Amino acid sequence: MELKNLGNTGTMVPEIGLGTWNYSGGVEPLRKGVELGAYFIDTAEGYYTEDVVGKAIKGIRDMVFVATKVSGRHLGYDDVLRAAEGSLRLLNTDYIDLYQIHWPNSRFPLKETMRAMEKLVDSGAVRYIGVSNFSTEELREAQSFIKNYPIVSNQVLYNLNNREIERDLLPYWQKHKVTIIAYTPLDNGSLTKNIGFISSHKMKVLEQIANGVQKTIAQVALNWCTSRPNVIAIPKSNSLARTIENCDASGWRLSQDHIRLLDEAFS
Ligand SMILES: NC(=O)c1ccc[n+]([C@@H]2O[C@H](COP(=O)([O-])OP(=O)(O)OC[C@H]3O[C@@H](n4cnc5c(N)ncnc54)[C@H](OP(=O)(O)O)[C@@H]3O)[C@@H](O)[C@H]2O)c1
Repeated sequence: MELKNLGNTGTMVPEIGLGTWNYSGGVEPLRKGVELGAYFIDTAEGYYTEDVVGKAIKGIRDMVFVATKVSGRHLGYDDVLRAAEGSLRLLNTDYIDLYQIHWPNSRFPLKETMRAMEKLVDSGAVRYIGVSNFSTEELREAQSFIKNYPIVSNQVLYNLNNREIERDLLPYWQKHKVTIIAYTPLDNGSLTKNIGFISSHKMKVLEQIANGVQKTIAQVALNWCTSRPNVIAIPKSNSLARTIENCDASGWRLSQDHIRLLDEAFS
């Protein structure tokens, strides 16, 4: 499993992690993923999966990097602290590795939210601060309200079919060393199925490359994401076999020619 620097912190995280939105696979796929090196587990108070993550990390807490999120509805100062307490309880841990603001919400003063995030790091309940679904401008503003800690990551939609972040967000944050955590990296599974709204030309290119490198379509789609500097991907699977498959999307690299062919087909 390839590791990447989280932001500019020196803390290394695997380029393939384990997503848990809509997750109902129990502890086994998560534990297997960790065993195979995908020790970054992503959850959120809004997913109702923090409890299963808590069960999965029991006894192996120090081997896992746990990322969770405060809901965009809980961004008042006290709400953030209360939400973190709830997450710690469900995760059955005394620290969260990465605490992310799930969505920006202009109803709450961002300064207050960031003050609460800072307080959580000061108290040791949180190691690193991240955001999710933030524009470049929002991320810059959030950072301006924290004095002592960097915002290390922005979790955003990124896959072969959804490449909007390449316009400005990705290059800007690559330059400023903020990790991009690609969510929905398999486009919710649609990239792996030959269905209507993906043109047959795109699927043909994906299939041909997968056959050429003797990997599955899912593995090629994930490797394309993580071939970008600063990008890690967090596919979700309920299945043990597909979790193993997704972990094997790392440890090798698509060639520059393959990446160019995919970039062109999915432009
Ligand atoms: N921050 C945010 O706002 C936000 C939003 C969305 C998602 N996320 C995070 O990103 C994670 C991943 O995104 P996602 O769950 O939306 O979508 P995804 O990972 O792109 O796709 C998940 C779907 O793909 C299937 N799948 C997984 N591995 C597969 C494989 N190797 N071959 C074929 N099908 C496969 C899964 O089915 P099975 O489970 O049956 O394998 C599931 O239906 C989430 O779980 C969550 O942690 C964050």
